[in-house]
Amino acid sequence: MADIPDGYASTSSASTTTAHPRGIQRVDGFFEGQVAVVTGAGSGIGRAVALSLWSRGAQVCLIGRTQSKLEKAARMVGDDTTRLAIWPVDLTDEKGIALIKSRLLTTYGRLDMLVHCAGVIHTGAVETASPREFDAQYRANVFAPFCLTQAVLPFLKAAPGQIVFVNSSVGLTASRDLGQYAATQHALKALADSLRAEVNQCGIRVLSVHPGRTATPRQAQLYAMRDQEYKPELLLQPEDVAAIILAALSLPRTAEVTDLAIRPLLKSY
Ligand SMILES: NC(=O)c1ccc[n+]([C@@H]2O[C@H](COP(=O)([O-])OP(=O)(O)OC[C@H]3O[C@@H](n4cnc5c(N)ncnc54)[C@H](OP(=O)(O)O)[C@@H]3O)[C@@H](O)[C@H]2O)c1
Repeated sequence: MADIPDGYASTSSASTTTAHPRGIQRVDGFFEGQVAVVTGAGSGIGRAVALSLWSRGAQVCLIGRTQSKLEKAARMVGDDTTRLAIWPVDLTDEKGIALIKSRLLTTYGRLDMLVHCAGVIHTGAVETASPREFDAQYRANVFAPFCLTQAVLPFLKAAPGQIVFVNSSVGLTASRDLGQYAATQHALKALADSLRAEVNQCGIRVLSVHPGRTATPRQAQLYAMRDQEYKPELLLQPEDVAAIILAALSLPRTAEVTDLAIRPLLKSY
């Protein structure tokens, strides 16, 4: 049972539950027949969201640059990976975006949920931070979700679908030494807000989620860089963030959650 994240249903109370000896289980068929694209699905929050959507019946396309990470995520559901597709793609490359669009068209012909979780972070004070790193963050955190959303919007309009932007607490309030990253997250929120105003009338919901520190490989790396002791149990878990996203995606279509802020209960930082 190594490497199975906590937080997925582990009881057999739902009549449709199919337990798998390796851990991640199908809970129900709430999203059955629906297709989801989850970026950054090879680790952290994206992986938790992808597996949660799978556990509720969705067909999930896992996007990230590293095939081995995507394969490892897919193996967590056991042997029957028929509802998972692994599409290794660099989202900062427009050819990668075009590939996702064409595979959606040829494989499913539809898209119901688009969850943007891929992204990168570089730290540094405004006085000294590298412009090159600022540009890299802009490409991955703003330009890529913009291009991907634009490319697959026709599918989402037809469904009509739902779009989730996993943003950050610093996308609401910037803090020191994160100016470039925070700027990209503020831009991402602006993108989501404009898009919502444009596509609500088509029946599409748009959600921005603003998590605080979450126990993912990224956060472990940031603690190591700051030479701080890393205690993941004090932070949000990726499955906490996935749970609130799934709740919002499951709401009746008369309602829309537009923005969600979620913080660790214990304020250790
Ligand atoms: N962890 C936190 O404390 C925290 C807090 C607030 C917000 N967030 C947000 O949550 C999201 C996920 O963060 P995380 O902590 O789960 O990070 P993570 O574990 O580093 O996951 C990010 C994923 O994005 C993928 N990725 C990066 N650049 C990509 C590209 N150009 N094309 C395709 N995939 C790419 C990476 O996979 P490859 O390297 O294989 O491509 C990686 O799996 C981010 O948007 C982040 O801003 C995280």
